Amino acid sequence: MKMLAVPATVLALWAVSAQAATNDEIAKRLEPVGQVCVQGKECKGMEVAAASSGGGAKAPKDVIAKHCNACHGTGLLGAPKIGDKAAWKERADHQGGLDGILAKAITGINAMPPKGTCADCTDEELKGAIKEMSGL
Ligand code: HEC
Repeated sequence: MKMLAVPATVLALWAVSAQAATNDEIAKRLEPVGQVCVQGKECKGMEVAAASSGGGAKAPKDVIAKHCNACHGTGLLGAPKIGDKAAWKERADHQGGLDGILAKAITGINAMPPKGTCADCTDEELKGAIKEMSGL
């Protein structure tokens, strides 16, 4: 075990100095992160930064594209289709409106996974996505 510890330390030091040598490059690559990405605007490459910093609400269309569309785009597994207002309204009417189906979306229902697989979505973000998909 002791024999292994030495090369590991050397490797760590090498990694640190290698990083220092390319600090300028790294700073360049990080530049776009400093730009302001306004909600609702297309900000290519900003998704990762926004997700890791936890800042800003997710736009409904992004949540849908990333999480809901897989099933709701085609009606997979019996999911109400995006834009099929009648199908969504029927559900809402039977379950206390938008908030009723939101509650089901949060807990999951049958083949519908909890939060529609968007585990880090807030209730408001889910609600926005449901509104957008259902037209309710
Ligand atoms: C793995 C497939 C799948 C994904 C991904 C998915 N859904 Fe669903 N969803 C379903 C299915 C299937 C149903 C119908 C469930 C049933 O009534 O049996 C459903 C139903 C719903 C309902 C109606 C619930 C009710 O009370 O009738 C809402 C609201 C909903 N989904 C929201 C979402 C949102 C928002 C997302 C994305 C964040 C999402 N879903 C992602 C499969 C999915």
